[in-house]
Amino acid sequence: MPTGKLRNRAARHDFFYERARREGFAGRAVYKLAEVDRRTGLLRRGMRVLDLGCWPGSWLQYTARIVGPTGVLVGVDRFPLEVPIPSPGVRQVVGDVFDLAPQVLLGSLPAFDVVLSDMAPDTTGVRSTDQARSEALFARALELAEALLAPGGSFCGKLFQGPGWQDLLQRCRGAFNKVRIIRPEGSRQGSLEQYVVGLGRK
Ligand SMILES: C[S@@+](CC[C@H](N)C(=O)[O-])C[C@H]1O[C@@H](n2cnc3c(N)ncnc32)[C@H](O)[C@@H]1O
Repeated sequence: MPTGKLRNRAARHDFFYERARREGFAGRAVYKLAEVDRRTGLLRRGMRVLDLGCWPGSWLQYTARIVGPTGVLVGVDRFPLEVPIPSPGVRQVVGDVFDLAPQVLLGSLPAFDVVLSDMAPDTTGVRSTDQARSEALFARALELAEALLAPGGSFCGKLFQGPGWQDLLQRCRGAFNKVRIIRPEGSRQGSLEQYVVGLGRK
């Protein structure tokens, strides 16, 4: 439950955590997205963006600022957001991505311009299990991106490097014109997470 996660989060005060608090963001993860965006030019004004695994809400806060009032955001998580919904153009869907049909995420939109996924499994401490769960979440995010992106659209998904890494990258290369792998400075030391960015949906 979020309460436990909050306790863990609160115990891990660090530079990015303190900065997020000072700057009014719901979590330190915002700086990872900001770096990916700076390096790839992923997000732009007026875009329609789907954010998978949006709790507690810092990626939505950041994205809302970039896409502005003409943009549309849909945030999905198993838990409701902990920050006020950052703009009227944001819709929240509470549920599990494995159960949600693509049409529910689209609502009345024809397609998305960007699909983001910062989804992470509840970790067990058993590396192989955690990697397998991270790969399953990434594969689901990619499947939804393939179903929901407009041609030319982009994808950014978090993935813990593990045995399925090459196959998943290969799938991304098949779906996008360009694939970049970014390990942002905001990722914790020792974490195996990377962000796979697919630009230009074929
Ligand atoms: C690292 S947090 C995301 C942080 C978020 N990007 C932010 O900036 O606030 C990962 C989230 O993925 C969500 N998640 C994990 N598995 C999920 C699933 N099967 N369906 C929906 N959300 C899921 C978790 O509930 C968790 O809130």
